[in-house]
Formats: sequence, C-alpha cells, structure tokens
Amino acid sequence: MSATAASKALTVPEIAARKGKTPLVCLTAYTTPVAKLVDGHCDLVLVGDSVGMVLHGMASTLGVTLEMMILHGKAVRRGLQSALMVVDMPFGSYEENPAQAFRNAALVMAETGAAAVKLEGGENLAETIRFLTARGIPVMGHVGLTPQAVNTFGGYHVQGRGEDAERILRDATAVSEAGAFAVVLEKVPEALARLITEQVAIPTIGIGASPACDGQILVVDDMLGLFGAFRPRFVKRYAELGKDAEAAIAAYAKEVRERGFPGADHVFDNGSGTASVGEAT
Ligand code: KIV
Repeated sequence: MSATAASKALTVPEIAARKGKTPLVCLTAYTTPVAKLVDGHCDLVLVGDSVGMVLHGMASTLGVTLEMMILHGKAVRRGLQSALMVVDMPFGSYEENPAQAFRNAALVMAETGAAAVKLEGGENLAETIRFLTARGIPVMGHVGLTPQAVNTFGGYHVQGRGEDAERILRDATAVSEAGAFAVVLEKVPEALARLITEQVAIPTIGIGASPACDGQILVVDDMLGLFGAFRPRFVKRYAELGKDAEAAIAAYAKEVRERGFPGADHVFDNGSGTASVGEAT
C-alpha cells in the first residue's frame, strides 16, 4: 500500500492560486517513462481514463476499471517529482453516491500517491464533490464533453452551443462552488469557455475549449502523434512519433531479413573483447 506525493511537488492550493495568472500546463501520462518526460515541463499530470483507448485499444473509456487506474497511477507516480498528480475516477466508481465515491477515491489516493482525483460531471455531482473535499480528497471537475457520457450524448460532439451554454455554465459553477480546485472544460465554444473562466473562482483547464481558459491539457499520445485511431480537431501534433517508430520498426525488419542486423558492434567475442555500445562484455 501507499505511495506518497513527492515533497517538492506542486500542491493543490498552488494550482488553485494560478487562476488568471500564467497558464497552467497539463498533460496526461500513463507510464513511468512518459511521466519522467513530462515532469519538469508540466504543472499538473493527469492519469486519464483515456488510458483505456490510448494504451489498451478500447473503443471508449467505459470499460476502464479502478484496478487499471491504480496500476497506471502507481507507474506515473514513480516518474514524477515536481508536477501535481491527478488520477481519473473511472466510470461506475463514483456516481452511485458520495460514500462510494469516497471509498474508491481514498483507495486511489492511498495506492497511487495522487494528490487529487478527477470526476466527470457538473450539478449532478456537486454533493459528491462537497463530500470528498470536506474529507481530504481534492477534486478536479470535468464539464462540457464528458467522454464517460458518450452514450447519453450520442457521440463526442461539441457541448454548450446556443441555449445549451447555460447548462454547461451551471455545471462549472456547481463544481466550483462545491469545492473543486480546478475544472476541465472539454470541447465547448470559445465564448462559453471565456464566460465560464470569467465567472468561476477556480482555474479552468481547456481541451478543445480555446486559449480563454486558465490552462490547457492534451492527451500526451495525441500531441506526440502516437495515437492514430482518430484525431480530434483540438489536437495539435507537436511530433509524429508514431510515424518515426513505424519507420524504425520497418528498418529493423528489413535489416533482420537481409542479415544486416546484428552487426559487428552487437556481437560478443570469446571473452577478451572490449565492451561495445555502452554495455559490459
Ligand atoms: O481521460 C483524459 O485523458 C481526460 C483529459 C483528456 C482531460 O479526461
């Protein structure tokens, strides 16, 4: 049991205090090596339930379990020193009632060393957020397009257009007033994101929600070009690692077939030889 957050990591109050200041930089991570890469560049790292689609090939996030979130949370914890770590509560682990949410969120925090959890929902979850935050569990909210409600929405559409904007504003306000320290706004129009950011007391973290937000988050595999199943319009690719990786794998396959690999540098002699490629003989 029990990992604890690194002592020099950013804290929940420090993140909350960034409202209206330098934009918060946030990314997801699911593994230790990627956590090590993003730590030092990010203020907040989310172990998102997007892990189900990105690493496990699921069609949606609905099949992600508490066990998966704990396993990936532990891996990410080992890679972080300075960023605040937040873990997503998966579908079905918190909606029943505040007691269920507390039991599962406490387990996630104790097992992974996360500083906070994230829940998808607005007005419908205000009571739960109030219950958790009053009992030592910091909560990040998530309103707008909430992917765990994909079946209710009938797809991953923009939320809050036209008269529907009022609903998302009410959700963000409810989450903030219930005690959340930040709220993710996903796939909402720019004008609505700006209005919510002006009206709520906590930092808004946008994903497909314009630069009007107090910070931004992306799925790390999306922005690195590692996830190719689909590409939402709000994703900017900062690298094409998937294409680079495929080219490297193709080169390896070709060399193996042509006996070009292993080469002389990768072969061991009878015992007196010197070390090659940085390894012991
Ligand atoms: O699961 C996830 O990665 C998320 C972010 C995209 C906000 O919820």
